[in-house]
Amino acid sequence: MAASYILLLSALLALAASPAMAGDPSALQDLCVADNTSDDMAASYVLLLAALLALASSPTMARDPGALQDFCVADNTSDVFVNGFVCKDPKLVKAEDFFFSGLDEPRDTTNKVGSNPRDTANKVGSNVTLLNASRIPGLNTLGISMARVDYAPFGLNPPHIHPRATEIQTVLEGSLYVGFVTSNPDNRLVTKVVRKGDVFVFPQGLIHFQFNLGAKPAVAVSGLSSQNPGVITIANSVFGSKPAISDDILAKAFQVDKKIIDLIQAHF
Ligand SMILES: *[C@@H]1O[C@H](CO)[C@@H](O)[C@H](O)[C@H]1NC(C)=O
Ligand SMILES: *[C@@H]1O[C@H](CO)[C@@H](O)[C@H](O)[C@H]1NC(C)=O
Ligand SMILES: *[C@@H]1O[C@H](CO)[C@@H](O)[C@H](O)[C@H]1NC(C)=O
Ligand SMILES: *[C@@H]1O[C@H](CO)[C@@H](O)[C@H](O)[C@H]1NC(C)=O
Repeated sequence: MAASYILLLSALLALAASPAMAGDPSALQDLCVADNTSDDMAASYVLLLAALLALASSPTMARDPGALQDFCVADNTSDVFVNGFVCKDPKLVKAEDFFFSGLDEPRDTTNKVGSNPRDTANKVGSNVTLLNASRIPGLNTLGISMARVDYAPFGLNPPHIHPRATEIQTVLEGSLYVGFVTSNPDNRLVTKVVRKGDVFVFPQGLIHFQFNLGAKPAVAVSGLSSQNPGVITIANSVFGSKPAISDDILAKAFQVDKKIIDLIQAHF
């Protein structure tokens, strides 16, 4: 009951704060498929849905659901599925739940092949260390995460999307050629060369990339507006899906011969 009351309260509060009622609740993962056989969850889901609906439609709210208490540290061992993670018993929460160490250590960008042939991340010369709610359980419900990106000399963080987050990035070492592309129909490329101390923003859901312009390694740190921003690397998703998208489909989509599609698919 307590949880339901908190959710009801949050729904009402959010409704009161929301000038308009439109939009679906923000997802905290790729999928959260309804389990309509669960008695227990039904009431909470409806209330959570209402709270998230109201939060999503409120322009002043952060995108992830707001915390309803000081913290809701992720209990990722729970077999109850909610949007995000269920909270740990607050009495069992420790400082380590809010802590990560070693973000200062350079990551490996040199292994050109990688142990997994499908893992193309370091073939292009970059390595992303993402601190989401899986790595720092204390981030659960707080709507924020962080990443360190290492770039090999002339390394690329290839075109990708964060489906659930805007990214704000600062360069710690080196200089990067960065950019994003706006949505249809304009598809306008917005780019800039950013150097140590510069900051650049990649709006949520837009395709973006960073390329190291230097002959030395570069490093950047990003803040992301979701506890679980998600990453869709365009080439890997389109040409490396499991199972593969048919080369007939991709040949038509990219308006090239199927042989060219097969050649690209072989790299992912
Ligand atoms: C629950 O899901 C089943 C299968 O998808 C569907 O047939 C049924 O109508 C659903 N019941 C409710 C109450 O939504
Ligand atoms: C990133 O760096 C870590 C630590 O150096 C390494 O274990 C990992 O394999 C690297 N990942 C990629 C994709 O290169
Ligand atoms: C957090 O990021 C890691 C690495 O990118 C990913 O494997 C994991 O699934 C993410 N956490 C969640 C809850 O999706
Ligand atoms: C669960 O938490 C542990 C320890 O913090 C972490 O190693 C693991 O990757 C997490 N799993 C998920 C699915 O988030």
